[in-house]
Amino acid sequence: MCQFICSLGIIFVCFTHEVQSVIIKQSSAKIVRKGAKGIQIDCSHDDSSYPLMYWYQRKDESPSLTLIGFGYESSTQNYEDRFEERLNITRESVLQGTLVLTDAAESDSAVYFCAASTHVTNSEPAFFGKGTKLTVLEPGCIVSPPTVVVLPPSEKECRDRKEQLKKTLVCVASGFYPDHVSVSWTVNGQSVIKGVASDHPALRVDDKYQITSRLRVEARKWYTGGNIFTCNVSFFNGNDTIYTSAEVYGGVDGTVQHPEPLGVTETQTWFMGSTVQGAPLNMIDRNIVYGVFVTILAWKLGLGRSHATAKK
Ligand SMILES: *[C@@H]1O[C@H](CO)[C@@H](O)[C@H](O)[C@H]1NC(C)=O
Ligand SMILES: *[C@@H]1O[C@H](CO)[C@@H](O)[C@H](O)[C@H]1NC(C)=O
Ligand SMILES: *[C@@H]1O[C@H](CO)[C@@H](O)[C@H](O)[C@H]1NC(C)=O
Repeated sequence: MCQFICSLGIIFVCFTHEVQSVIIKQSSAKIVRKGAKGIQIDCSHDDSSYPLMYWYQRKDESPSLTLIGFGYESSTQNYEDRFEERLNITRESVLQGTLVLTDAAESDSAVYFCAASTHVTNSEPAFFGKGTKLTVLEPGCIVSPPTVVVLPPSEKECRDRKEQLKKTLVCVASGFYPDHVSVSWTVNGQSVIKGVASDHPALRVDDKYQITSRLRVEARKWYTGGNIFTCNVSFFNGNDTIYTSAEVYGGVDGTVQHPEPLGVTETQTWFMGSTVQGAPLNMIDRNIVYGVFVTILAWKLGLGRSHATAKK
């Protein structure tokens, strides 16, 4: 019971961290070949009163994080058993640390999180970075950007619980590898979040991935001629973030006025500079709150254990 209350305490601190927050920066996503040596994931933050640095791994979209290791700048780092052989944690300063993968294997594909805390107790908050997604390419799989189509709503669509007539547009991005994508929607160039639901994670289809995203809009909006509904998919290929978009036009009485014929969409692809960061991380946002929640519980329990081990 006490543990539960204490956990709530920590969560409360985490979710109200506007009061005092540590900004943690991590390397952006990485895509490497199997056998690549010394892959580095950097972590830095801005508050020297948080000298303890933790690293966690999240695999296969699991809601929980696995502790890799932790330590102070000046002390040797503590590793969880199964990670000791695979990687090194180095500390450049109180505010900086690096996770180094000795020899990349497919099993290292995961999202890596760095966290900072004041000291090893159960009552102090830990602040987390947004995570660095690492993909170790599977042999024989070719890095490929998605093809994107937007399917207009079906003519028959049921009224929702509030008796409002809605229309659902579906965006399908397919044929991409690896799964470093995020999907967003715009209506007439304005970003929309409300009514958007995207698959998570992307679905594996043979040696490629596919992801769908749905946008529900008021029927009225869909029937307004000239409204442009655009689905924009970002894809990170290891060097650059590539955006591919497709669009459909709303039409009076459901007639798609352009482009013709109905349901055929335009696909555009363009590249952003190689310094674009972060976009692939958007896709984890939805799970992160839950991830952090579970982590804090795991962290408490895990730490309790590490602590006990250190003492004997
Ligand atoms: C990790 O640390 C060990 C011991 O400090 C060292 O021998 C090894 O070369 C390091 N590996 C990497 C990839 O830096
Ligand atoms: C897609 O998103 C990127 C990044 O936000 C933006 O630069 C680009 O203009 C968008 N494309 C469309 C067609 O909305
Ligand atoms: C990324 O850049 C490297 C080095 O320039 C190049 O060999 C590789 O083919 C590029 N990868 C992609 C997917 O463009």
